[in-house]
Amino acid sequence: MREHGISVDVIVGAKTKDLLILEDAMREQAGNLYVTTDDGSYERKGMVTEVIKDLVNNQGKQYDVCVAIGPMIMMKFTCLLTKELGIPTVVSLNPVMVDGTGMCGACRITVGDEVKFACVDGPEFDGHKVNFDEAMKRQMMYKSEEGRAILKTREGDTHHGGCGQCGGDN
Ligand code: FES
Repeated sequence: MREHGISVDVIVGAKTKDLLILEDAMREQAGNLYVTTDDGSYERKGMVTEVIKDLVNNQGKQYDVCVAIGPMIMMKFTCLLTKELGIPTVVSLNPVMVDGTGMCGACRITVGDEVKFACVDGPEFDGHKVNFDEAMKRQMMYKSEEGRAILKTREGDTHHGGCGQCGGDN
């Protein structure tokens, strides 16, 4: 974006200062960098959504688009907020991917009225259309054999085997 002359405000959230990565690299690229930690051990304290609220509501910032990349729960709450603020939002659904080849079925999500697979159809999607609750619930179920069996009953044979990681081949 910088190479295209687009000014970008970057918000980075980490649990603690020790878990913060790429700060200098981000600072070099960002128009403005805002760092926040859950425990307040560095810079601001709180979630990234609180920074967005502060920038828009208190500092008069206006944004054409928001790009959210990180844990599903963060992207869910970012999208709820940006929908309220009227900011189009793109999310990257890498966290639900397992094999990344379209074979395992782990990344099946609902976007609007459509079923999509993050690794084949994305991973970027309109965050305001993604059903995060379903995706996160599904992500949890996918971790156990029982959960995968339930999903298979509900959704059919979305797991074709071959990922070698989720145990669905057994
Ligand atoms: S990660 Fe998309 S089908 Fe496996």
